[in-house]
Amino acid sequence: MNAGIVGIGRYLPEKIVTNFDLEKMMDTSDEWIRTRTGIEERRISTDDVDTSDMAYAAAQKAIENAGISAAEIDMILVATVTPDQPFPSVACMIQDKLGAKKAAAMDISAACAGFMYGMVTAKQFIESGTYKYVLVVGVEKLTKIVDWNDRNTAVLFGDGAGAVVLGQVSAGRGILSFELGADGSGGKHLYQEEQFITMNGREVFKFAVRQMGESSVNVLEKAGLTKQDVDFLIPHQANIRIMEASRQRLELPEEKMSKTVNKYGNTSAASIPISMVEELEAGKIKEDDLIVLVGFGGGLTWGAIALRWGR
Ligand code: UT7
Repeated sequence: MNAGIVGIGRYLPEKIVTNFDLEKMMDTSDEWIRTRTGIEERRISTDDVDTSDMAYAAAQKAIENAGISAAEIDMILVATVTPDQPFPSVACMIQDKLGAKKAAAMDISAACAGFMYGMVTAKQFIESGTYKYVLVVGVEKLTKIVDWNDRNTAVLFGDGAGAVVLGQVSAGRGILSFELGADGSGGKHLYQEEQFITMNGREVFKFAVRQMGESSVNVLEKAGLTKQDVDFLIPHQANIRIMEASRQRLELPEEKMSKTVNKYGNTSAASIPISMVEELEAGKIKEDDLIVLVGFGGGLTWGAIALRWGR
């Protein structure tokens, strides 16, 4: 049995905050942000839209796209570090809203690599024959834990949600291989203290460049594939310079890497599914394409998946 994506959707808040808007709020510049990160603007959700609202909106679209009803979902996994509250989980909140009455539900805390952790967890339940459909959501409202007085972090993040329904797909398609990892000793480089995100950008940068490249190559090897087989790379959208390093490691031309960081900033666990929808809508991902998904985040955590697109 092969687990793969049978439905996908996303939600992005309407409100756009540009680098020029940030220039008016803190000592920064569009030039600095663009050249150091690739970010030009980000989406910010309003006070009345919390994490669960965004997760619900993305989940509804993924379920509709899968052509199933919420009642058929067996499990809901929500990857987030910005839940509405510590408990009940966002997964339980959307289980109720969706009417996914038979679904087990829990949140996953693996920061920006959370969506990879969610997909891989879902795969186990599907391929063991335990569950038929698992809903995996990556969602963040990072702007509620951003210190708007800290220019080192405030310019980087945005809000949004992406969701997939995982189910059985035909032979040769779906998740071909994966890698998950963590290094708790690096937790000190990226964490939430009291209310706010605190980050040692340079340390995270070095780790990310090394790990994104390593993991991408590892999942290809595990699937018995080579760099030449890759049709598309969807890296976690944290910083264009980190993404470029992964692309070069896979020796891919520019047009074969998803780039949405310019429009949405770093949306943490949501960035990979948000980008997947972007590329599907742009017609850049086609049936039977080999896609590498790769992410890293606070923890430190990382994860990668080699995915053959199609049901
Ligand atoms: O999802 C995981 C989340 N985290 C990440 O992905 C972060 C990974 N790291 C990075 O992306 C980069 O390290 C940053 C974009 C955060 C920073 O880029 P950098 O090239 O490593 O810059 P830096 O931290 O070495 O700072 C260079 C200078 C400093 O000034 P001095 O000390 O050289 O005078 C900073 O104070 O840039 C200054 N600076 C800024 N200037 C204008 C830092 N933030 C800003 C800012 N605007 N927003």
